[in-house]
Amino acid sequence: MQRAFRVGHGQDAHRLVAGRPLVIGGVRVESPRGAEAHSDGDVLLHALADALLSVYALGDIGRLFPPTDMRFEGLDSRAIVTQVLEKVRAHAAAMRVANVAAVVTLDAPKLGAARDAMSASIAKLLGIDSGAVGVTFKTSEGLAPDHVQASVVLAVLDG
Ligand code: C5P
Ligand code: MG
Repeated sequence: MQRAFRVGHGQDAHRLVAGRPLVIGGVRVESPRGAEAHSDGDVLLHALADALLSVYALGDIGRLFPPTDMRFEGLDSRAIVTQVLEKVRAHAAAMRVANVAAVVTLDAPKLGAARDAMSASIAKLLGIDSGAVGVTFKTSEGLAPDHVQASVVLAVLDG
């Protein structure tokens, strides 16, 4: 197969509720509210998993991890990314992620102090350098104060 450059894109959003942990990019962030979800609600890793699947048109995580399946209750989303990566590699064995560009939108708390830990966590999952994982943060300017959202774009080399 001819060596090709591809892109992937994924997004996710979760409602924030009291009494739930806030986990973003595999990193636990101190917060009075966390994502309401069936799994650990890691919005960034869910967007990353969909971005990976989209590279080769392999569907999305809703198909692989149906919200109705009790086996996924409280699931660590790093396991979702690992399983997605296995699925992608089964389709394109020599693929490697060139870089990841992620945006997290959250009004509070501020996330800057956790940026390096998120990049390192994502880089470890993908087996790439943390310098290839850019994570930026935005508030919604009060438009979505009760939600956390993420968008991920990534570039992949086929071989
Ligand atoms: O959304 P806004 O442009 O006001 O965000 C300003 C800056 O605040 C961002 O560029 C980012 O550095 C920081 N930020 C953050 N954590 C958030 C939201 C924004 O660190 N949850
Ligand atoms: Mg999600």
